[in-house]
Amino acid sequence: QRFFSSTKPRIYVTRVLPDQAMKILDQYFEYDVFRGNSAIPQDTLIKNVKDCVGLLCLLTDPINETVISHPNFSKIKMVANYAVGYENVNVAKLSELKIPVTNTPGCLTEATADIAMSLILATHQRFLQHDQALRSNQNGTILNFQKDTQDLNLDPLCNKTLGIVGLGRIGQALAIRARGFGMKILAYTRTPRPKISQRIGVEELTKMDDLLQYSDFVSLNCPCTEQTKHLIGMEQLKMMKESAILINTARGKIVVEDDLIYALKKRIIKAAGLDVFYNEPKINPELSKLQNTVLLPHIGSATTRARAGMGILAAQSLVDYLVHKKWPKNFVN
Ligand code: DGY
Repeated sequence: QRFFSSTKPRIYVTRVLPDQAMKILDQYFEYDVFRGNSAIPQDTLIKNVKDCVGLLCLLTDPINETVISHPNFSKIKMVANYAVGYENVNVAKLSELKIPVTNTPGCLTEATADIAMSLILATHQRFLQHDQALRSNQNGTILNFQKDTQDLNLDPLCNKTLGIVGLGRIGQALAIRARGFGMKILAYTRTPRPKISQRIGVEELTKMDDLLQYSDFVSLNCPCTEQTKHLIGMEQLKMMKESAILINTARGKIVVEDDLIYALKKRIIKAAGLDVFYNEPKINPELSKLQNTVLLPHIGSATTRARAGMGILAAQSLVDYLVHKKWPKNFVN
């Protein structure tokens, strides 16, 4: 029987959160926190969740059948995921047990859109190659025009088309940034948003194939669900222009990574800018060997403001439900 007690509820937290969030936890909960430098091992999580009514966890913590069906999990009444994505949590199973799951929408929109725009600029302008060349080139900044200019990107972004897959908060924030650079914006989205699209200057397409064919940059900004897992494989990569660049700040599993690596090697597409990977936190070594990639260590939400906002929201959701017995606003089930 899951029940509320009158003492401070006991919860487990799988990572030290920003101060503002820890203060909320201090005030309302009895809690332990995992202080390791990497993701908490599953057996440690299972051991520590015993007698807890709430769990505050991260994307790197699979809250799967093994965890959920363990006797130590039996008192859990709520799971707060410190991320907007929640594919690490078996939400269906928790719903069956009537355990609410919350995420942290809204806090990282601008931060992630900044990273997507930065990857567009970095891949287009080939910043990394220029930086490396300049550091190793004794001749300084003067280009060998005969040799080098043909290899440069001479077309400015205002002549380019960006195709956004997923026009939620982050997709919209990216569109606004890219419009600032004069880009033409196409979008393919599960939920048509004609009014918003018109306001921010986005042309919504009804077929993803069209977006792939017409875009110079394809940016993935959708969640990873059963429908979007492996959305981009060889067939889709072949539809893209040879000069096209794929940007992924959403989730690694939306792309068949081996197909992407092949396409980059064979120049089926030109380049990729990636902040997320298939087997995070590991990265496929083949990707790091390629010159036509810009790779970031999943920093889409890594601003102080975003992380603090996420922490406060996750902690507050636990307070709402476990202390004030109110249904949290940002539940996902
Ligand atoms: C999220 O919140 O889903 C982000 O990817 C975490 O950085």
